[in-house]
Amino acid sequence: MEIKSSFIYVIFGASGDLARRKLIPALYSLFVNKLLPDHFAIIGVARTEYSDAQFRSEMTAALQKHNETDVVDKINTFITRLYYSPLTYNDPDTYKRLENRLQTIRNQDDIGGNTLFYLSTPPELYPIIPAHLASSGLNREDNGWKRLIIEKPFGYDLTSALELKDRLLKDWKEDQLYRIDHYLGKETVQNLLVTRFSNGIFEPLWNSNYIHHVEVTSSEGLGVEQRGGYYDKSGALRDMIQNHLLQVVALAAMEPPATLQPQAIRNEILKVFQSLRPIKTEEVSKVALRGQYTNSKIKNEMVPGYREEDGVSEYSTTETYAALKFYIDNWRWGGVPFYIRSGKRLPTRVTEVVIHFKQTPHFLFGHQANCSSCNQLVLRIQPDEGMLLKFGMKTPGAGFDVQNVNMDFHYSDLTDQRIPSAYERLIFDAINGDSTLFARTEEVIEAWKFVMPVLDAWKNDHTVPLYGYPAGTWGPKGADELIEGKWITWRYPCKNLADDGIYCEL
Ligand code: BG6
Repeated sequence: MEIKSSFIYVIFGASGDLARRKLIPALYSLFVNKLLPDHFAIIGVARTEYSDAQFRSEMTAALQKHNETDVVDKINTFITRLYYSPLTYNDPDTYKRLENRLQTIRNQDDIGGNTLFYLSTPPELYPIIPAHLASSGLNREDNGWKRLIIEKPFGYDLTSALELKDRLLKDWKEDQLYRIDHYLGKETVQNLLVTRFSNGIFEPLWNSNYIHHVEVTSSEGLGVEQRGGYYDKSGALRDMIQNHLLQVVALAAMEPPATLQPQAIRNEILKVFQSLRPIKTEEVSKVALRGQYTNSKIKNEMVPGYREEDGVSEYSTTETYAALKFYIDNWRWGGVPFYIRSGKRLPTRVTEVVIHFKQTPHFLFGHQANCSSCNQLVLRIQPDEGMLLKFGMKTPGAGFDVQNVNMDFHYSDLTDQRIPSAYERLIFDAINGDSTLFARTEEVIEAWKFVMPVLDAWKNDHTVPLYGYPAGTWGPKGADELIEGKWITWRYPCKNLADDGIYCEL
């Protein structure tokens, strides 16, 4: 399905890293895969004083970095669609100039009024740019649709998220707003819906009668890299859990939508957010755990601790690891604990959802009780994308010993087809006006409401411990104690879907 009507794609913050690494490559990929219409243009906007030629040459370099040299011709053709307009974000006159530029390009390249404005800027500019666009009439849809795409973070806390919401909705309609959560653009995250709702075998078991608990892990091997300045004001709970991982939980926990219409799916997602049991301030230290990586040797190389990273305060109390236990109070999930953890400088990069099914009501076989990792369904989001079912089988030979076995499916076996990047998918959907995979205002607000008691306690109550953990380990020592139950711990995933344990290949 290609996009038929012409459009202009305006990227604010176009001289930054995201444009180079993700946005321009995603648009290029849509172009080479013939998914864009004949008439379109991309305008980079930022404070840097580039000319069109300079911007084109910067973006050519960025594309060449990610692509084979034999596509130079295609890059050269694509790059002619790029323009650049320097802009002072706070100056109303420059928006007038942008409007004139848009008009000139529309006339020259035979493009209608459809326009997307993509905010890839520091979040402080989120209330400012859309308001100026509106004052210049650039949000008006009389000559074609106008859409605003915003990168996370949508606010810093509940108060600022509500302010941002009010500010945006003053000038823009909700259906013009596309809040990007790049996790929703991942094929395997979308596949959660397909796995659950296209198969008769899982759904009957997908509830509190059969599920003991649900675990969601997102671990990263890297530290904060060059983003210390941003990260130190954010932390794992804001950076990963409030948005990406709660969205993943929502897809794993939602009811089947009546149809595949964006509104129907997003209504079900919202209901999950609305059913999250509020965490009480006094229980924060029992249900939430935070940690910060300390320096350590990984594969014989010393890596710095978080407080030694560039841009990070030497007294920082920002968490680089967060784990939460919570409940979804609804008919399906009553009483089933959900556990989420996310951290930087953990042993490996893995994102997965693990459904832990209940044991049989009665142990017939002695060793069955010890099979702590039986009865699991692992939905692997990345890497080695796929699905793994772990269950008990008879160990060959005398007696009735039970051993844990695996049945695994790897997404890579499904197709040789190119899998589009998350940004490619989301940009394509936004141009097409499909908002299914974008976060709606109410979801964002509910997610903030849910994490606020934890954020507040971590900020204000200095008796809540911040544990250190050596870089390259699975987080604070007490993390397993968050999960209640004999023999039950977090799964310790390896690079390969089918393996787990603390000694596997990472
Ligand atoms: C971003 C976070 O939203 O997601 C980063 O700001 C994090 O800190 C990244 O590293 C993880 O994304 P992915 O797609 O690599 O899992």
